[in-house]
Amino acid sequence: MRFTHAIVRPPPTTFATGISRSGLGPPDLGLALEQHDAYCRILERLGLSLVRLASDPELPDSTFVEDAAIVTSAGAILTRPGAGSRAGEVATLGAALRLSFPELEEITAPGTVDGGDVCQAGEHFFIGVSERTNSEGAAQLARWLARLRFSSSVVDIRAMPRLLHLKTGLSWLGRRRLLAAGEVVDHEVLRGWESVRVPDGEGYAANCVRVNDALLLAEGFPGTGAMLAGLGYEVVPVAMSEFRKMDGGLSCLSVRW
Ligand code: GLY
Repeated sequence: MRFTHAIVRPPPTTFATGISRSGLGPPDLGLALEQHDAYCRILERLGLSLVRLASDPELPDSTFVEDAAIVTSAGAILTRPGAGSRAGEVATLGAALRLSFPELEEITAPGTVDGGDVCQAGEHFFIGVSERTNSEGAAQLARWLARLRFSSSVVDIRAMPRLLHLKTGLSWLGRRRLLAAGEVVDHEVLRGWESVRVPDGEGYAANCVRVNDALLLAEGFPGTGAMLAGLGYEVVPVAMSEFRKMDGGLSCLSVRW
C-alpha cells in the first residue's frame, strides 16, 4: 500500500506535562518543534500530503496523533484512548478524518484502544492488549476489521513492562517481515512471520515506519540501521530524542493513509 496522506500535529507548549515514564527528563520544546518539522518535511519528500492540526495546550500528548484513530485503505475508526487525559484528542482528529472518511466509526465504552497498539502488516492487524487497550476494545476493533475483510490477532503485552504499546516493540517491514524487540520476537502470534530482532540495547528502534519506498528509523541506532540497510531498505534516520522523552515513537507522530 502506498501512502498519499498523513495527519500531523505539533507538540503544544504544555508538551512536558504529558504522560511519561521514560525517566529521560523533560523535553526541550524548541528542539521538539524542530524535530517535528523535520519529520513533516520527510513525509512530504516521500510524497505525502499533510493535514496539519493546530497544537492544543489543553492536550499535552496530542502530538501523538496515531493513538486516536486507526486508518486503513478501506475505512477509518476513531479510538477511545486508554489514558483519560487523552480523551479530548479524538474530536479534533475525527473532524479532520471525516473529510476523507465520512463513514468514520468509533470504539465505544467500555472498550479502550490506543492506535499505538495496532500494527498493520498488509491485510493483517496485530492488536496489543496493554495498559491502554483493553480486551473489549481489541474485540470491537477486530470485529470492525473483519467487516473490512482484514484478519487480526491479539498480542497481550501486559507482562512486558518495557512496552507502553505493542508498536513500541513491533513494526511491519513489508510482505511477511516484522521488526521486533526481544520481548515480542518469540511470541507465538508471530509464528509464520519472519521476525527480525532489534539488536540488544537498541529497543527504541523497534518502532520504525515504512513509508512507501523508505523506512523511517529513529536516529542513533547504528546496529539496527546497518542491519536494515543490509536487508535492502532505504533507511531514513529521524531525530526523535525529545519525543522519546515523552514515551513517543516515530509511528505515533502521524496517522497515514
Ligand atoms: N506520552 C504518550 C503517552 O503516554 O500516551
